[in-house]
Amino acid sequence: MAPPFAKLALGSVLLLQVAFVMGNSRCLDDNCESCNARKGTPCYKCQEGYVLKEDLGNSYCACEDPACNLCTTNGTCTQCFVGYGLDEEQSCQPCSDSNCSWCGADYQTCTECAMGFSLVDDKCEACPEGCTACNGTQCTECGYGYSLQEGECVACEDKNCRTCADPTTCDECAPSYGDVNGECKQCTDPVCLTCDGKASVCTECRGNRYVAVDGKCVITSEARRR
Ligand SMILES: *[C@@H]1O[C@H](CO)[C@@H](O)[C@H](O)[C@H]1NC(C)=O
Ligand SMILES: *[C@@H]1O[C@H](CO)[C@@H](O)[C@H](O)[C@H]1NC(C)=O
Ligand SMILES: *[C@@H]1O[C@H](CO)[C@@H](O)[C@H](O)[C@H]1NC(C)=O
Repeated sequence: MAPPFAKLALGSVLLLQVAFVMGNSRCLDDNCESCNARKGTPCYKCQEGYVLKEDLGNSYCACEDPACNLCTTNGTCTQCFVGYGLDEEQSCQPCSDSNCSWCGADYQTCTECAMGFSLVDDKCEACPEGCTACNGTQCTECGYGYSLQEGECVACEDKNCRTCADPTTCDECAPSYGDVNGECKQCTDPVCLTCDGKASVCTECRGNRYVAVDGKCVITSEARRR
């Protein structure tokens, strides 16, 4: 194994190469004009129209208006961040409809509503219960535990079912539940994510720490030693 100082020296060489690349060609930040990674100031001069800002020790270039994503050399905003739109003075205001996600051209005119809302007469209206997407009162997508039936989201009959093709046919049980005789039952082992056939037979465990071996969740490192 290489001694620690050898690693350190290799690290410095890499750092110098990065600094060289950054100082002599484009900066990583597109809105930065001059940068120097070696001095710990990735950017020290921004493109015209952008100002240097600091956040948790990082410096970056952004438009003067914190809600603005793109601005011109004279500082005029041309595009706001999601959830904001331009006003008459070309500054960014939150969309006037609080359930709107996109009102870029005019903060008072919504063109796309947030998830679970749909645009009806220029207003974002909540979708019916269980819908994650709709067109007015017609559901087009249902959330977990619901099945789409002719524009309506109908709850799966088994309340521990995650997805059902129709209310009586469960395709997938909720996490930590498994199909036991056609019903979603809670798996016996609390670290079990999916069980099959029997609540005590685990087929998939939660996270990386555990792995299913012969229907049981065992710690991954112990499974490797077997
Ligand atoms: C800023 O520049 C844009 C075009 O890049 C122009 O339309 C606008 O009038 C300018 N605004 C001011 C205040 O100079
Ligand atoms: C946004 O949706 C919430 C929940 O449906 C509702 O209470 C609120 O009034 C809506 N806001 C507007 C501006 O319509
Ligand atoms: C929503 O429904 C209306 C009429 O029912 C239809 O004209 C429109 O195209 C639909 N919009 C979407 C996004 O499907």
